Amino acid sequence: MDLTQESLGAGLKPGDAHYRAYVGPPEDYDLIAAMTFNLLTTLGLRQHHSLLDVGCGSLRVGRLLIPYLNCGKYFGVEPNEWLVEEGIKRELGEALLEIKRPTFFFADLPEVITQANTSFDFAVAQSIFSHCGLDLIKGWLSAISRSLTEDGALVATFLPGVQDSPAKGWVYPECVNYRPATMRQAAADAGLRFELLDWKHPRQTWALFAAPKFDSGWLRNKPLTWNAGLAKALTRNKAGNITPAAPAASADFSHAEGHVYDQDGLRSIHNHEFMDDPAFRKAYQRGIRAAGDDYRWHWRVHIGLWAAACAARLEGDFVECGVNRGFLSSAIMDYLNWDSLGKHFYLLDTFRGLDERFVSSADRASGAVEKNKKSLTSGFYAQGIEEVRANFSQWKNVSLIEGSIPETLSQVRAEKIAYLHLDMNCSPPEIAAIQCFWERLVPGAFVLLDDYAYHGYLSQKIAMDQFAQEKGIKILSLPTGQGLLVKPIGNR
Ligand SMILES: C[S@@+](CC[C@H](N)C(=O)[O-])C[C@H]1O[C@@H](n2cnc3c(N)ncnc32)[C@H](O)[C@@H]1O
Repeated sequence: MDLTQESLGAGLKPGDAHYRAYVGPPEDYDLIAAMTFNLLTTLGLRQHHSLLDVGCGSLRVGRLLIPYLNCGKYFGVEPNEWLVEEGIKRELGEALLEIKRPTFFFADLPEVITQANTSFDFAVAQSIFSHCGLDLIKGWLSAISRSLTEDGALVATFLPGVQDSPAKGWVYPECVNYRPATMRQAAADAGLRFELLDWKHPRQTWALFAAPKFDSGWLRNKPLTWNAGLAKALTRNKAGNITPAAPAASADFSHAEGHVYDQDGLRSIHNHEFMDDPAFRKAYQRGIRAAGDDYRWHWRVHIGLWAAACAARLEGDFVECGVNRGFLSSAIMDYLNWDSLGKHFYLLDTFRGLDERFVSSADRASGAVEKNKKSLTSGFYAQGIEEVRANFSQWKNVSLIEGSIPETLSQVRAEKIAYLHLDMNCSPPEIAAIQCFWERLVPGAFVLLDDYAYHGYLSQKIAMDQFAQEKGIKILSLPTGQGLLVKPIGNR
């Protein structure tokens, strides 16, 4: 293929009659494609999704999207048929057209998309609203809104201004500006949620126009990055395995406006603004630093921080059995400004996975040993104390106790305990620990059981319920998979 400067449209102006120049400055034909493709995939575009490319032009981004999507999933609308023909001839090739079978509508009326007879998971309008009168923008938003899946979204660029352009219809190659408030209102009129996106464009501004169930909570107040997008798409279970995020539940979350919490086995529309609290965020980041990974345990950590903060007001020290790299304990120590507290934190672990001598037959039957092996080989579990020691070296009043529980329990010198966290993913050492510490737990002390209600850890729930019954108390089962106990006054 001829790749001379001329064939690339070098030196031509936007709008000139060349397939690259007509759609914008030819020198950034590649950049615009990369920016758009990366935005869509970061927001969650997958191969099985169907996508509408509004004003697909010479397939600047279509030449990346068509090969990426499954056969028949790409739909382009473009009034200038010659642009699409040139795009196929010079960029995409007939062979891909044959393999992927994209659909093109050569029209300039938004209503044409109903002919696709499909619902779109994503729609994109790059450098389209910057050339539309408000009447046409509204027409596109209304037609797209009707054709989007209920968790779908349109991403579009526009040119923010302090005044709204009075233009009508299509204006090209001139540009028009709109106030973001005007765009928001136009989106709302079409039943779409408007959010500005922090995704750089050489000249314009990206915005999201989301259908009611499109989850954008994860990209709010934090940088929109591939890492965040991938973390959203994947979530870690307790054994540290990465698993695809839960499929959309059948519950109607349409009134949640994108504020859906969906990670770590918990999907909820309930208020989780604790995630925006600067103290929480700082502590959570300290947990990530300890673990070297974001496990996406926000709600679990929120509960741990709450219990620790309540316990900090009581007499007594803190104990954690099952520390691993110290995600939760590091978050707590950061949150409580540990050195100022005058308490001691005892952190007990083998620091190399569970000890098979202390696994019950019920734990074994539910796969505790296999999960442990996986956690060790995947690197989720620490394989030695040294790196963990380095993590905790910033704090005073902390003891790392290496070895198997119950054998190491006697090394906990605390006379009074205000906070006990049990997280060993197997029952006998956890029961041994709670029995050992029960009398030293002060009235009102908090015992947090990480595995109590977690799916796949039933043997631990059964063992803990039996312990609680012996003490005449009940354990609070939390939707995070944790269990919570508050030591009653006078219970021995
Ligand atoms: C799920 S991890 C703990 C995660 C940790 N709480 C955090 O916040 O990152 C479980 C830990 O329990 C430890 N463990 C399991 N059985 C143990 C035993 N009998 N004695 C000491 N540690 C044990 C493992 O080595 C592993 O580090």
